[in-house]
Amino acid sequence: MVNLLSLSDLSLDEIDGILNRAQQILDMKERGWFAPKQTLVANLFFEPSTRTRFSFETAEKRLGFHVLNFSSQASSTQKGESLYDTVRTMQAIGAQAVVVRHRREGYYRELMRGIGIPVLNAGDGAGDHPTQALLDLLTLRQEFLLFKGLTVAIIGDLRYSRVARSDANVLSRLGCRVLLSGPEAWKNDSLPGDYVTVDEAVRAADAVIMLRIQHERHEQAMKMTKEAYHCRYGLTRERAAVMHPGSIIMHPGPINRGVELDGDLVESGRSRYFKQIGNGVAVRMASLEWALRIKKEAEENDRVAEKW
Ligand code: CP
Repeated sequence: MVNLLSLSDLSLDEIDGILNRAQQILDMKERGWFAPKQTLVANLFFEPSTRTRFSFETAEKRLGFHVLNFSSQASSTQKGESLYDTVRTMQAIGAQAVVVRHRREGYYRELMRGIGIPVLNAGDGAGDHPTQALLDLLTLRQEFLLFKGLTVAIIGDLRYSRVARSDANVLSRLGCRVLLSGPEAWKNDSLPGDYVTVDEAVRAADAVIMLRIQHERHEQAMKMTKEAYHCRYGLTRERAAVMHPGSIIMHPGPINRGVELDGDLVESGRSRYFKQIGNGVAVRMASLEWALRIKKEAEENDRVAEKW
């Protein structure tokens, strides 16, 4: 049995042999004779996630990539390592892209200098959730073909929801009418759209996007009970009954049934909740392909420029 437990167990010849082989591997890599066969992507999630994390991982595997899955609890961030140094470490190990979710809004700004691989934002605090917005767009396009002229209602915790921000901005750019509704304390004046009551929003919308209450980002505990919230701002069965024919219900997940949305509506004919989740895999495959293609093109341009 051969183990590598302590260098004291190895002869100096054995140590020399391992160092020589490691250097040989690096030299061959340098000359392009030992190019890694598969793309390596690291998923760094510093906040809980089910949909985004597993659909990115599924997307990476379907593209034939190797995946480095990172658990923040079991990583050296627990010993004080910064996000920058963690990502830089992944790059040094050989990752060709990183997927990052972090509680800090705009965390990626500190990575823009020094990190030479694409960063795909899997959600930054109350900032943005770009791949969620892309999968929401795909779901809407499958349903309605065109964005221009659609009325989309976004209802709930508008202030703390990164999905609300990403969706409202891109839907507005695409020519949708965005209706916003929710508790006064969670209004967000930076979002494009018109504030209306929940009943008005539900009645007018082609698509109703219900948002989870982002308790983890609130400075104060919610004063209302869940039942009271559901009654005042949730999509109840009574409210859904006045939705016009062909209109759909969406939710980024995770759902708290009976709070933002009646549990039965999740399984109803209008719901596209599970379709959204399925679309997430394709959208993340396409996003990874896009980012890696742009990086490759930039590297090729740099090589041509160097020759000149
Ligand atoms: N929609 C979304 O971001 O879900 P997760 O938090 O489970 O990834």
